[in-house]
Amino acid sequence: LAVPILSLLFHFSTHTWVSQVTHYKQYPPNTSKVYSYFECREKRPDPTKNRKVKYETTVFYGLQYITNKYLKGKVVTPEKIQEAKEVYREHFQDDVFNEKGWNYILEKYDGHLPIEIKAVPEGSVIPRGNVLFTVESTDPECYWLTNWVETILVQVWYPVTVATNSREQKKILAKYLLETSGNLDKLEYKLHDFGYRGVSSQETAGIGASAHLVNFKGTDTVAGIGVIKKYYGTKDPVPGFSVPAAEHSTITAWGKDHERDAFEHIVRQFPNVPVSIVSDSYDIYNACEKIWGEDLRSLIESRSADAPLVVRPDSGNPLDTVLKVLEILGKKFIPTENSKGYKVLPPYIRVIQGDGVDINTLQEIVEGMKQHRWSIENIAFGSGGALLQKLTRDLLNCSFKCSYVVTNGLGVNVFKDPVADPNKRSKKGRLSLHRTASGDFVTLEEGKGDLEEYGVDLLHTVFQNGKIVQTYTFDDVRDNAKITDSDLKELLH
Ligand SMILES: *[C@@H]1O[C@H](CO)[C@@H](O)[C@H](O)[C@H]1NC(C)=O
Ligand SMILES: *[C@@H]1O[C@H](CO)[C@@H](O)[C@H](O)[C@H]1NC(C)=O
Repeated sequence: LAVPILSLLFHFSTHTWVSQVTHYKQYPPNTSKVYSYFECREKRPDPTKNRKVKYETTVFYGLQYITNKYLKGKVVTPEKIQEAKEVYREHFQDDVFNEKGWNYILEKYDGHLPIEIKAVPEGSVIPRGNVLFTVESTDPECYWLTNWVETILVQVWYPVTVATNSREQKKILAKYLLETSGNLDKLEYKLHDFGYRGVSSQETAGIGASAHLVNFKGTDTVAGIGVIKKYYGTKDPVPGFSVPAAEHSTITAWGKDHERDAFEHIVRQFPNVPVSIVSDSYDIYNACEKIWGEDLRSLIESRSADAPLVVRPDSGNPLDTVLKVLEILGKKFIPTENSKGYKVLPPYIRVIQGDGVDINTLQEIVEGMKQHRWSIENIAFGSGGALLQKLTRDLLNCSFKCSYVVTNGLGVNVFKDPVADPNKRSKKGRLSLHRTASGDFVTLEEGKGDLEEYGVDLLHTVFQNGKIVQTYTFDDVRDNAKITDSDLKELLH
């Protein structure tokens, strides 16, 4: 059974969703169209603050999941109308539910939603403050529907924010990898998704993990693979990969005196693929020096570059620990110097740091490694809560606002401009997104984009009257979001 729109009426925790139940009575009389848009509001530069992460651009991703899962097809049925009517009567202690409006959609459109959504292509990297999608009602009777679907559509903030934050981390990794090795080999495997257990639900895991995979290829949150296969599709059989990895239980189950036996057993189990072994159950430094560096040294030296041992510390200050682990390993497994003059451990041994990794500690660790002349080739990162859960809609100021209505047959540009916060001013009128000759993105307001001189509108109709009319594959998404040469130029500047 699909879980489309009217079932969502029962998400009472969402204040705006419930309040929208009564909005059809609040618009001006004779309103025949409501047009709204979504943006990640632009930050006015604050000269007093020097933030490390600016999030100047956002990756648009995830609308296709929402429209496919919740909005397409026959989503209105007599049973759902009845159910919603009864619950709302109790909830508001009044008959405020728009039963007539929903019956109209049921009869005239066989339960399909008469709205049109136009959006930038999925994966597009767009500067803050530009329109990302618009929604409008397509039947004068259903003007109220535009903002009825606001709550479900604004939830796109989550995949947008995960994909954006993950891409910012990819930029940091790209910069330091290039500076310390001269190439971008394995960049897509440098930040592994460890977030499955740290998210609020299976649905969050699926959406969030898929959003990280827009930028990277390593994940342990396999729920993301299902989302991508079902809602986007890839040419490869799977969009993300992983390697065998030990966890503390598979080490500690051997007993404190047998950590070495645990390590040896696990390494021997996986001779042909990389194997990650958590090495801090008791003493990470002893494990690196004595167990890996002495007891099991020849076993490790016999592994190939395609199947390295990956040593995983999992406690302590992330930067200090990584540096100390590299230093100890470097005394036992002698590093070479790469073309950029940075140290690289032999190809059969690597390190993964998966504890305490967020965009700020990531920056600190790669900077610290660079200062100590260690190439980023030596390391990969895992990130969990910070990658998928420690994010809110405020990070990118994701917002949905009405900008145009038709009342008594006349189009009116509308906006808000709260006196207490100029940042919250919204855009006016019908909107379109364009690229100038110099490559900058610009949002035109008040329907100006209709004029031919501005060139094509980058917003494309993706949903119309219950049908998905434009679909992006996950390969398209990745291609749109990739780090370009000009991104690199800017990063290295
Ligand atoms: C609404 O439209 C009807 C029919 O055109 C008109 O008679 C009425 O005055 C309009 N109401 C308002 C408040 O403009
Ligand atoms: C974005 O949200 C944060 C947190 O609510 C707020 O402090 C900031 O002023 C907002 N910025 C814009 C441009 O709305």
